[in-house]
Amino acid sequence: MCGIVGYVGPKDCNEVLVDALSKLEYRGYDSAGIAVFSDNEIEIVKTKGKLDDLRNKLKEVGKPSGNIGIGHTRWATHGEPSDINSHPHSGSRVTIVHNGIIENYIELKEFLTAQGRTFLSETDTEVVAQLLDYRYNGDPVKTIDECMADLKGSFALGIMFKDFPDRIFAVRRESPLIVGVAKGESFIASDVPAILKYTRDYYLLEHNEIATLTVDGVSFVNEYLQPIEKELKTADWDEEAAEKGGYPHFMIKEINEQPTAIRTTIMPRIKDGLPYLEENGITPEKLKDFKNITIVACGTAMHAGMVGKYVIEDLSRVPVSVDIASEFRYRNPIISEGDLVIIISQSGETADSLAAMRLAKQKGATTLAIVNAKGSSIAREADMLIYTLAGPEISVASTKAYITQLSVMYLFAFELALAKGTVGKAEIERLISALMKMPEAVQYVIDNCEEKCKYIATKLVAAESLLYIGRGLDYALSMEGSLKLKEVSYIHSESYAAGELKHGTISLIDDGMPVIAVATQTDIIPKTISNIVEVKSRGAKVILVCTDACARELKEGIADYVVEIPHSDEMLMPITAVVPLQLLAYYTSVNRGIDPDKPKNLAKSVTVE
Ligand code: G6P
Repeated sequence: MCGIVGYVGPKDCNEVLVDALSKLEYRGYDSAGIAVFSDNEIEIVKTKGKLDDLRNKLKEVGKPSGNIGIGHTRWATHGEPSDINSHPHSGSRVTIVHNGIIENYIELKEFLTAQGRTFLSETDTEVVAQLLDYRYNGDPVKTIDECMADLKGSFALGIMFKDFPDRIFAVRRESPLIVGVAKGESFIASDVPAILKYTRDYYLLEHNEIATLTVDGVSFVNEYLQPIEKELKTADWDEEAAEKGGYPHFMIKEINEQPTAIRTTIMPRIKDGLPYLEENGITPEKLKDFKNITIVACGTAMHAGMVGKYVIEDLSRVPVSVDIASEFRYRNPIISEGDLVIIISQSGETADSLAAMRLAKQKGATTLAIVNAKGSSIAREADMLIYTLAGPEISVASTKAYITQLSVMYLFAFELALAKGTVGKAEIERLISALMKMPEAVQYVIDNCEEKCKYIATKLVAAESLLYIGRGLDYALSMEGSLKLKEVSYIHSESYAAGELKHGTISLIDDGMPVIAVATQTDIIPKTISNIVEVKSRGAKVILVCTDACARELKEGIADYVVEIPHSDEMLMPITAVVPLQLLAYYTSVNRGIDPDKPKNLAKSVTVE
């Protein structure tokens, strides 16, 4: 994800900015750039590629000499990685760097175009630069404040005004931004590690607050332009921990990033309350003729496909088969012209998934890739492409990539149902509005269930084997819960369709064996409860993940531990219900003394068969 830095002080700005950006590399990026006040002019140097490419370019074109500037590493969202799309971006008197998504950039771009403005890049960022320039009234802070009212979305901005060469400005909404201070110098950064070499003292900029940084110090105003005093914080992280943003492991950091990841993924694909996938080349005309869909993927991505199957079939009545890529490619699958094959992959490089996609193309199918890694092989070769915008996922066990894959599955299913005419516009609008509430719902689950999951995980440490059970969407989700646990805790676990248990697997239940049941689908909860009673009466220790409504109606003693999650639209429940399953896996791993980020024998990107 993008990284922002900024500097005001006595040092050579180039050095500080590039060094600070190097501390944000863990976030992942595909281009980099800086803007520096040099003889009262703003000089910009930016390039596609890595920081070394920027260093080379700075040597080539000559470093701008100056002590005040802003810098950026970009993880492309709007527009491919390219020199032009790299940040900083400018209106004529304003230059900015940006992290996050401007949800209403299309409307703003249309407005500014009508005012005669032209755009060089495909980014939402340039729209903000032009808007600031358009609204500029001689007072930078007032101008920023006015523009904030126009902007929708989550974002952080570092800003330079040509008329004020002794200062930089910063503002944020949702996306993180800190303001670091030391004697005679100040900094902005997306994350504390960027400035630790220079200072440990920083302020956390809150939503809609505006910071002004000069050599004389830092001042802040709130959204009503009233000056405010802020609490100075001091970082006490060692360098390695700091790279994880203060979290002990990337896995828990990435679990915590899920609300933002969902928001970033869905918001650019929603317009006027409906799914908007046209920028991804997906139009109702293209979708309406598909009669068969096959989803092909591996591991966690395949589990996202399982949820997709339930949702797509339910809404559009198009039959969907889900296949493991390594099986699909060797079994002469029945695919023909006019079929749609969806490939889901975080890395976009999984060898089996790539081969499966090529096979599907050979057989005449249209392919749609749902991929996280920009410019990866699967992304490049697919006929249609939707990026999940989860940002770089470092932990081997996938969490935020899965949740964004689910989010895209929903958007696609909604669009398909509209194209097929199987669901009315009003119902899709209702579902989209429910989907837009999911980032908050996931945050709520993280905030309210983490302690409980941590406690329950202490009861799982010594388990030799576990079962995950559920029905329908809950079964699809159980598969992912079970995989997560075995990946990071090395405890054997299986997921089972709850109703199928009695046809064999129930013989495994022994005294004290943990069974994790998922029950979020109201119409089948009584059935799942019957299955819970069956395993409980055979000695199982039951951990039930269910909605608050279901928990209220539970009879005493049905489950040993209950994790309640808020009820949202039933179809969307996997998005929230997966969070306790991820937390249970994470804390079980930690309790067993395993590093969940680097489980033995596993790789993040499997590029061999
Ligand atoms: C590996 C990873 C899994 C991942 C799977 C598919 O096995 O360890 O976490 O789900 O590959 O990877 P992809 O990049 O195609 O989603």
